[in-house]
Amino acid sequence: MIYRTHHCNALRTGDAGTTVTLSGWIASRRDHGGVIFIDLRDREGLTQVVFRPEENPEAAARSHELRGEDVVRVTGRVALRLAGTENPKLATGGIEIVATGLEILNASDVLPFPMDERIANEDLRLTYRYLDLRRAEMSANLRLRHRVIKTIRDAMDAEGFLEIETPILSKSTPEGARDFLVPSRLTPGSFYALPQAPQQYKQLLMVAGVEKYFQIARCFRDEDLRADRQPEFTQLDVEASFVTQDDIIGLMERVLAAVFRAASGAEIPCPFPRLTWREAMDRFGSDKPDTRFAMEISDLGDIFRDSAFKVFRGALDSGGVVKAINAKGFAKITTGQIESLTELAKQAGAKGLAFIKIENGEWKSPIVKFFSDAEKAALTARLGIEEGDLVLFGADRWETACETLGRVRLRVASILGLADDPSKNNFLWVVDFPLLAWSDEEQKWNAVHHPFTRPCDEDAPLVESGDYGKIRAVAYDVVLNGVEIGGGSLRIHEPALQAKMFSALGVDDEMQRTMFGHMLKAFQFGAPPHGGIALGLDRLVMLIARAESIRDVIAFPKNNRGVELMTGSPSEVDFRQLRELEIQSAKKPA
Ligand code: AMO
Ligand code: AMP
Repeated sequence: MIYRTHHCNALRTGDAGTTVTLSGWIASRRDHGGVIFIDLRDREGLTQVVFRPEENPEAAARSHELRGEDVVRVTGRVALRLAGTENPKLATGGIEIVATGLEILNASDVLPFPMDERIANEDLRLTYRYLDLRRAEMSANLRLRHRVIKTIRDAMDAEGFLEIETPILSKSTPEGARDFLVPSRLTPGSFYALPQAPQQYKQLLMVAGVEKYFQIARCFRDEDLRADRQPEFTQLDVEASFVTQDDIIGLMERVLAAVFRAASGAEIPCPFPRLTWREAMDRFGSDKPDTRFAMEISDLGDIFRDSAFKVFRGALDSGGVVKAINAKGFAKITTGQIESLTELAKQAGAKGLAFIKIENGEWKSPIVKFFSDAEKAALTARLGIEEGDLVLFGADRWETACETLGRVRLRVASILGLADDPSKNNFLWVVDFPLLAWSDEEQKWNAVHHPFTRPCDEDAPLVESGDYGKIRAVAYDVVLNGVEIGGGSLRIHEPALQAKMFSALGVDDEMQRTMFGHMLKAFQFGAPPHGGIALGLDRLVMLIARAESIRDVIAFPKNNRGVELMTGSPSEVDFRQLRELEIQSAKKPA
């Protein structure tokens, strides 16, 4: 007995007359005046099978019982389809199998949802994920992910990197999210932390003399979920010794170019453009600019220095900025849309969102009356204002104005469909991030990347003087179409500087010893200069697949409540398991 001589995407018109055996699932069944046609599906594609009573009456009779997703084995003769019934959309569309034998290997129950439609209810899809993954779109995503990872492994190997696994049961490492904890049975009351990233281990591998490390690493972060975030996700994690920022950037550009060539056939131009963080914020109002469309933010401080409009004047007088974007051709904006943009601006911390519509040769806005002719002329020149445009203003502290107009820019682009061109792969690097950021909430300095990130050499004196807000980091993010797909930095390798950094972050001596003693100790025994990066693999595959969510490129993802619906995790555990761990739940019964 053999299950198959060919897969369901193999046969062509040249195979006509041969006898073949195929196995797979019933994708669809049609009854044409008592003659049953099925589309037989396997991983590779579809083949049409027809059951003619004159060939094998018994098989033809049984074909009437077939239901969607039954698993069958079909034997038959390859025949050319009748003229006019070919399906040019299908690779096998020129032929069909005239069945001489049918074996139902396993019948399927009635399906919870139709397999040939895009199901809106994602929870239902996730509950029956094994069915969802049979759909062509999802199966293509799994293949794409495989191809991406395989290409990465080959490329990193060719670059001389060693793939090394680091522990999953590990120690808490600060990447800015909450840890998932695993209780230890052998040391009751103690916990492992699942790694948010293999950050410390990979640095310790550099101290170990590995020089070039990578890992397709699973990371765990207990944070609120979004379309591009999962509590468990995968990174291409990289670390190397004796490298500069340019070395890491060049390496990643080569790897990404190889990935795109293999996975989508696209040639991506290298080197990628680089923007400093300040420039990215100034021009795009974001540390992950989407450059698929222009609508850049312009600074208008010089034009409105003496403005009669108190909102602009007030912002400038108190050391802030006046900035604007020109939403070309969007003067037709509705009142509802203006209101929702203003709401968005307020969420970003702005006090309002002044605007001007240019319609019928007139500037329509409650604030135009405050503008002098000279200001209008300068504004027109700066923003290239034309009939039909809509100008949106932010007057605030620099951060707030940038952030506000950045968000407004993205929303306008989405309304106008400016980023819809699926052929665009706009890569760029954002460099020169600030090292530390002040948190009003916590009243302390936090690391923008993580505490192991190196300050720029020129800014090192500021570490001494405590002028923390001005220190730039040797940190870089790689951005694709407005999504941060990776980030990394050169690291501190000197124990004294690392200790100083911990102190700046409010980690006292005692905590430095208990939490990071191993790092500080290791750095005393010949730590080489080193640095690295991690790419978010799920996000990368999502963007190549043009999928809407990283859930579409992960076989068994969690939903936005962190639940894996198919198996039902997380779940309660037996009290005996807890007793062994000497753990008692404090949750009150509902
Ligand atoms: P970072 O925290 O920037 O850096 O993470 C690197 C990349 O991982 C992806 N990513 C995620 N993807 C899906 N779901 C999540 N919850 C999630 N969180 C992050 C992003 C991000 O750019 N150890 C450092 C790297 C280094 O310094 O070498 C790190 O983890 O695409
Ligand atoms: P007001 O004088 O406060 O009524 O504001 C006049 C216009 O300016 C309104 O359209 C407000 O939305 C807008 N506006 C107010 N504050 C700001 C600000 N900080 N930045 C941009 N626009 C603002």
